Amino acid sequence: MKLWGGRFTRTTDRLVEDFHSSISFDQRLYRQDIAGSIAHARMLAAVGLITPAEGEAIIKGLEEIRTDIEAGRVTFDVGAEDIHMNIEKLLTERIGEAGKKLHTARSRNDQVALDLRLYLKEEIPEVKRLLAGLQKVLVDLAAEHLHTIMPGYTHLQKAQPVTLAHHLLAYFEMFYRDQERLDGCLARVDVMPLGAGALAGTTLPIDREMVARELGFKEISANSLDAVADRDFVVEFLAAASLIMMHLSRLAEEIILWSSEEFGFIELDDAYSTGSSMMPQKKNPDVAELVRGKTGRVYGHLMGMLAVLKGLPLAYNKDLQEDKEALFDALDTVKGCLMVFTPMLATARFRVERMREEAARGFAAATDVAEYLVRKGLPFREAHAVVGSLVLHCLEQGKSFEDLTLAEWQSFSPYFSEDIFSRIKVEACVQGRDLPGGPAPAAVAKALERARKILAGIYSI
Ligand code: ARG
Repeated sequence: MKLWGGRFTRTTDRLVEDFHSSISFDQRLYRQDIAGSIAHARMLAAVGLITPAEGEAIIKGLEEIRTDIEAGRVTFDVGAEDIHMNIEKLLTERIGEAGKKLHTARSRNDQVALDLRLYLKEEIPEVKRLLAGLQKVLVDLAAEHLHTIMPGYTHLQKAQPVTLAHHLLAYFEMFYRDQERLDGCLARVDVMPLGAGALAGTTLPIDREMVARELGFKEISANSLDAVADRDFVVEFLAAASLIMMHLSRLAEEIILWSSEEFGFIELDDAYSTGSSMMPQKKNPDVAELVRGKTGRVYGHLMGMLAVLKGLPLAYNKDLQEDKEALFDALDTVKGCLMVFTPMLATARFRVERMREEAARGFAAATDVAEYLVRKGLPFREAHAVVGSLVLHCLEQGKSFEDLTLAEWQSFSPYFSEDIFSRIKVEACVQGRDLPGGPAPAAVAKALERARKILAGIYSI
């Protein structure tokens, strides 16, 4: 007999039973489900809907069930559909009549919304902690590479020299925005839906504020229909997770490029690389590639969830059961990626001489030469044209800026004098960009200080 079997005369088809059962994946919520039920039972006793003795029996029973689940002594029943009814069924089997009172003034619709919110209230800080761990590695590496010069790119063509510290701290900023998005999401998760019942609350005199206090929620939901139909917070988390993955994936892509022989900027530690089953010489950046690949699957969950919600009439619809696998898989993926990405980056070796060499090759100083002329009074557009013809001249002659004589420089503009030779050194190009938010070591040192302060704040949450 089902918990809801009263109005039925025939049993559920076996196929339907398997089809609509969610216990295989929502058993993950057992701790939150039990915590929610304990708070609910305390409230029911406090307002006199059950006796104190019944309240105690329920709480004791639920605690024992939790212990047994944790010890692997519970086999869930597909016929009991989901984690909510499995636990209620176990409770009634164990404590009898009192167990049947637990579901007073409650529906699985507000219960599952509560469980998911409790779950995210624990998991979001965990994601934040892992993200902060990666940010810490970025900050440490930046401190180490304040003076390491590398080529900066646009269109993946060498553009202007930057410092490795500046490049790494760009990722710090991206992950900082991710932290803020997670905070925003957490604030909207922190709303207690119990009391909404199936959709329209209850006629019984419950105390919703007490339940919120018991469970550590900041506020209670303001509309019972919204409380059971809302999965915005799941979408928001999936969106935040998608952006984290996108940022990881962009860094992964750079690591993949940089570890190629063609770039040769980085060498991954053996512990974070893999070989080929056929080609003995290979050392592959599989971890970075997998992170890049798994990004697609998190995006997929975001799209999937948005599609599930589109067109759902109020209030609860069973479609909403599709939220959990998406959320759980996105959480596992993002946490799994962060866990392995952080030590991979921390143990990588940057080939600083090679980076500097590549930064100096080509015409990375071209903009600096134009700005040199601007300082001497030439309008920028004219300076741009002068340097353009200089580059063309060098290309035709097979020369670099370093190879030009003062006479050659001056044949392009009378503004050039002896000091041009020191201006075209990559070190000077980088040091010259000492503006707030710029790549010069002095500017990056300030950015580093800011990053450290931010990290200290995140760690102390
Ligand atoms: N397993 C369901 C879910 O995940 C719980 C709520 C079911 N409610 C219902 N009326 N069938 O959404």
